[in-house]
Amino acid sequence: MSTLAVSEEHVPATTAKVVQPAWVRALHWTNAVAMVLMITSGWQIYNASPLFGFSFPPQITLGGWLGGALLWHFAAMWLLMVNGLIYLALGFATGRFRKKLLPITPGGVIADTRAALTFKLSHDDLSKYNSVQKLLYAGIIVVGIVIVLSGLSMWKPVQLYWLSMLFGGYDIARYVHFICMAAIVGFMVVHVALALLVPKSLRAMIIGR
Ligand code: HEM
Repeated sequence: MSTLAVSEEHVPATTAKVVQPAWVRALHWTNAVAMVLMITSGWQIYNASPLFGFSFPPQITLGGWLGGALLWHFAAMWLLMVNGLIYLALGFATGRFRKKLLPITPGGVIADTRAALTFKLSHDDLSKYNSVQKLLYAGIIVVGIVIVLSGLSMWKPVQLYWLSMLFGGYDIARYVHFICMAAIVGFMVVHVALALLVPKSLRAMIIGR
């Protein structure tokens, strides 16, 4: 019998069809759609007044022009924020964050990084995250919160002046917002690459397809 634990709880193998509960998957894919809309419209906003010496190719931006991109950005923002708030509320309420993401210790992260680099990282139990995964997943949640807060501080710099000041003003908030976007895009590239690289046979055992 397979030793793979395929769900959060120790449920009988017959019912253990999925790795993640349905609510996590629904919120994850909604977040993915919202993120793609936010990133591509954000790139169009950036192109109107680049912070650095480059622009994003128009083919991978959304909105057509600054005004159109801002409309997309502020529309998708609601999807992102409502979805994100439900995710955070359920993550804490169900104890999922505590169970899946804690503890994160420096020793564990160093040991698992070393094991990963020498191809000795165990993939026996995919329901449990290793320390590097825990750090990255917890880290990207924090980045997600910072990008929303810096975005809000730029959206309503007068009403939310205290938030703007917390970031050191509008101009610095812009850089923080951009750096968070770069971190999210980097995370997404690795995340998608790893999802595709997990052998199909292993995936079939886990999700029954
Ligand atoms: C509640 C969520 C968000 C709000 C309220 C928000 C708001 C804003 C605002 C007001 C701007 C224009 C800043 C300016 O140039 O003056 C902006 C730009 C931008 N946003 Fe967002 N944003 C949010 C989330 C996101 C997310 C999730 C991403 C991508 C992952 C993102 C990516 C960008 C990018 C790349 C820019 C262009 C950066 C620049 O050149 O200033 N935003 N956002």
